[in-house]
Formats: sequence, structure tokens, C-alpha cells
Amino acid sequence: MSSTAAGGPGEIRKGLAGVVVDVTSVSKVDPESNSLLYRGYPVQDLAERTSFEEVAHLLWHGELPTPAQLAAQTVTERSHRALPDAVRDLVLSLPTTAHPMDVVRSAVSLLGALDPTADDTSPEAEQAKAGRLWAVLPGVVALDQRRRRGLDLVEPRDDLGYAANFLWTTFGEEPAPEAVRAFEVSMVLYAEHSFNASTFTARVVTSTLSDLYSAVTAAVGALKGPLHGGANEAVMEAFAEIGSADRAAAWLDDALAARRKIMGFGHRVYKHGDSRVPTMKATLDDLVAHHGRADLGELYDALADAMAVRKGILPNLDYPAGPAYHLLGFDTQTFTPLFVASRVVGWTAHVMEQRAANALIRPLSEYVGAPRREVPRR
Ligand code: ACO
Repeated sequence: MSSTAAGGPGEIRKGLAGVVVDVTSVSKVDPESNSLLYRGYPVQDLAERTSFEEVAHLLWHGELPTPAQLAAQTVTERSHRALPDAVRDLVLSLPTTAHPMDVVRSAVSLLGALDPTADDTSPEAEQAKAGRLWAVLPGVVALDQRRRRGLDLVEPRDDLGYAANFLWTTFGEEPAPEAVRAFEVSMVLYAEHSFNASTFTARVVTSTLSDLYSAVTAAVGALKGPLHGGANEAVMEAFAEIGSADRAAAWLDDALAARRKIMGFGHRVYKHGDSRVPTMKATLDDLVAHHGRADLGELYDALADAMAVRKGILPNLDYPAGPAYHLLGFDTQTFTPLFVASRVVGWTAHVMEQRAANALIRPLSEYVGAPRREVPRR
């Protein structure tokens, strides 16, 4: 690929690597200090000390909520948990051959079509839509997993927090406190990560003055890919392929010899380790101990150690999140939709930020095709 003057219109940075395209106040990724800040707060501290609901408020409004603000947000969120009939019917009508991410994407699109305020881009309307979407997505994900298991819909409960209700509607059982805590930590860690591929997608769509649902529908599509959110599923598929810790090194050698990307490892921004991994790994360790699944913990370590030795590449958040979701009881194909239910907060925070200081996102390309030529007369 050719490259001309640095910073000039002819300079090409494949994959926009290292390109700063705009400012943001939502989060800061600092690869040097290996940190991720949501509105200034270290994400690992938020995971330890706050609920996912408080983090949602923080990402949307810039500050952690006061008790009154949290109470008001809670009432609104709980009142929008139930699936609209048309969305329930859509989920139940789609073939189970469809990937759950396709189901979520379709549901978000339908929610947009059903919402008479979809094209109202005022800050109040955008915030209301973001809150409703966040509230309803667990119901979509839960129903989709249940129907694939031949189970009926479980109605949401308004006496449970976001994470607990998500587990309740998925499994129809009172969730154990350690399961709620582990799931909530994952939701906090997944909620936001600056200009990642799906968030940037949402911002590009917003920049055309399109609506919030269109931006989120497109973002779901971007997140589905295994180089992005789809990696958490692929980690569990690799674990199933490997089987046990003693086979991890040989499996890795074969995979690397076949030039396969090892899912759950590497990151475009972090080159010295993903700042979210230690917190999620500690959470996974708790789940491993609780479920008596030392074998899974050993497999995790064996593959990570072999990857560090062979390639010097460290895990990203999807590596511990995949087995954690497995231990929580989710089907592997449901892992990326869980990521959606969390990241929708970050996406919509960015939609609102983009809206507030918009410029159409329209980069240039360098043409390398056929030179100008005459169209033959026929
Ligand atoms: N497995 C094997 N090799 C890898 C991996 C990996 N997971 N990640 C990077 N490399 C190698 C590449 O092959 C390349 O080697 P080369 O220079 O010899 O060709 C080198 O490291 C640089 O890798 P790039 O792909 O150019 O790095 P980039 O910044 O573009 O990629 C990415 C980042 C896409 C995340 C990559 O590491 C990858 O594909 N990882 C696996 C998918 C994954 O886990 N995605 C989740 C991302 S985090 C998230 O969404 C929560």
C-alpha cells in the first residue's frame, strides 16, 4: 500500500490504526499506563464498587448518579423490561439456524420501526430511547436462548437489579449472589471502550443524521465479527476443541502453524495487556472455584502461558469472559449478545456525543484501480 506525506490526504493507515478521528469525553484508553477510564474513573474500581446501573448513568450523563437520580433511572428501566408483543413474536418467528446476534440485530431494528420518536434527535428523546433499549435487550437475549432450549418466556421481575433480572429471565431461577456479582462485573467491563469498531460504526451512522436505532443496529453487526465481540464465543469453541490443559500447547502450535488467529488474544490498542483482564480473570477464578471446575481454570492458564511464550501476545477481555459466561450457564452463541446488552450503553453515549458536535464522517480513499478509459461503443 502506498503512503505519501505524513498527515496529508494521501497517507494511508490501514484499519485507521493510530489515527485520531475525533475527541470524546466518554472514556479514555491509555495503552501506556494500561488503563481504561470511564468519565475519569478507572474501570476496575467501578467494577468493584458500583452497580452496572450506576455505570450506565455515568456513561450517559458524565457523573455517577445521586440516590435520587439512580432511583428515577431504576423506575424507568424496570418499567421498560417487558418485551413488546411484536418483538416477542419476531424472536419466536426467526429460525434457530440464525445466529443470536442476527436475532438481536433484527430486534433492535424492529424496536426502531415501532418507536414513533425514532427520528426525534433531541437530547431528551435520545436519552429516553437509549434507556428503553438498554432495558429491553436482556429480554430479547434471554427469550432467544430459552426458545432454543425449548423453554417459554420468563417475565421480568421489578424487584431485581439489572444483572439479577437478566439471569432470572434467562434461566427462570433465583440467581445466586455470586453469579449476579460475576455477571455484573462483566457488564461493567464491557460497557465502553472508546472508538472501537462497533462504537465507531455507531458514530458513522449517527454522523449522517440517521437515527439511534439505525446506529445501534449497525453497531450490533460490527460487534458480531470474531475480530471484535464475536471473539468471546470463539474462545469457548477453542476450549471445546482443545479439551484439556495438557493438550493446549500442541493445539496452539498447530493453530499457529495453520496461521490461525487465536481468539481472545491481542488488541489493537493495548500491546502490554488489556486493562480489563485482571478483574475479569479474578471473577472467572471465583466462578471456577464455585463450580468446582479447576479443569477449566487449568486450560485457561495453559493456553495463555503457551501463547505468551510462543507469540508474546496477551489475553483481551473476551478470553476470561467466554469461560465465565459458560460457567454462568449461557449457551456459547449467546455470549456476544450479552456483550451487546452491556455495550449498548457505550454506543448510545457516543451517539449522543456525536449528535452534539456532529460532522459527517466521510474519509478519503486512494484509487488504485484501472486508469481512466473510454467506454466501448456497442
Ligand atoms: N493470534 C495470533 N496472532 C496474532 C493475534 C492472535 N490473536 N493477534 C495478533 N497476532 C499477530 C498477527 O498475526 C500479526 O503478526 P505478523 O506481524 O507476524 O503478521 C501481529 O500479531 C499483529 O497483529 P494484527 O492483527 O496486525 O494486530 P491488530 O492490531 O490489527 O489486531 C486484533 C488486533 C484484531 C484484536 C488481533 O489481535 C486479533 O485478531 N485477535 C483475535 C480476535 C480477538 O480476540 N478479538 C477481540 C478484540 S477485544 C474485544 O473486542 C473485547
